[in-house]
Amino acid sequence: MKAEVIRLLRECDTYLSGQELCESLHVSRTAVWKVIKQLKEEGYAIEAVRNKGYYLVESADVLTAAEIRSCMKSRWMGHKVEFREETDSTNTEARRQAEKGALDGTLVVAECQTAGKGRRGRHWTSPAGTGIWMSLVLKPKLEPSCAPMLTLLAGLAVSVGIEDYCGLKPQIKWPNDLTLEGKKICGILTEMSADMEMIQYVVVGIGINVNIEEFPEEIARTATSLYLETGKKLKRSGMIACIVKRMEEYYEKFLSMADLSCIQEDYEERLVNLNREVLVLASKDEYKGICRGINKTGELLVEREDKSISQVMSGEVSVRGVYGYV
Ligand code: BTN
Repeated sequence: MKAEVIRLLRECDTYLSGQELCESLHVSRTAVWKVIKQLKEEGYAIEAVRNKGYYLVESADVLTAAEIRSCMKSRWMGHKVEFREETDSTNTEARRQAEKGALDGTLVVAECQTAGKGRRGRHWTSPAGTGIWMSLVLKPKLEPSCAPMLTLLAGLAVSVGIEDYCGLKPQIKWPNDLTLEGKKICGILTEMSADMEMIQYVVVGIGINVNIEEFPEEIARTATSLYLETGKKLKRSGMIACIVKRMEEYYEKFLSMADLSCIQEDYEERLVNLNREVLVLASKDEYKGICRGINKTGELLVEREDKSISQVMSGEVSVRGVYGYV
């Protein structure tokens, strides 16, 4: 009901009377009044005028389950929202939820993570009030070898979702980072539970530097935030909803093909490495080549000096632009 009140207030560009709210939601005036009071306490600026009703002046960057639900535009993905003010890691929480039988498309979001996980066992700094730290539980009926493709799918969904939301067009650094002006704004960590034949569940964890004002010196050269790139503070709930909507769209297409042919072109259009020199750092091999895109299973196509094309699997290697981060 709280999410519905927020949605109704947001969609109305004038005062919404208590009566209209009661009728739309089939609840009493007291119930509406209680919710309005709670919303004000959470940081929403709501004007209440006698004989006119309620008007949402502006909503601050509030992050709660109701706020996220009120923005959701997807048909099914992200309809179940598990919100935590603080958790160790949304990926770990999503795994706990999945083990308890969480539905396909369950969304876990936290205001702050105390043990945020990055790739290769690294720590992911996740302070409160500044970023999007979220994980989706997905249960595709596919073989385990398909899981890495979900990382690429999520990369595209985040890039397009951000563009839908605020017009910025982050590029994708294969396989799991998004960049603006050559600096990282988002990382994706995909974890899986599977048996030999089947995926049990996949957790796709997405970390986005949204309103971060400053980075520690060690990473300031390679990391940035949407705020630092635009000078504007953005509301995270609306952005989450745009990303989930795109993720739902691409995930459905992906399930129908069991490969990435449906997004290959859009992915390559945003691929920062495309036609640029990359350095492939595999465990036994290290070579330079020109990135020529991805194949339909998401491997990076790298043209080597002898013109042969190597197919680079994510997880196996680290790919760097030879001149720096991208
Ligand atoms: C990376 O670039 O190394 C991946 C970073 C992934 C960070 C996100 S934040 C939400 C989710 N929960 C985690 O613990 N990690 C991912």
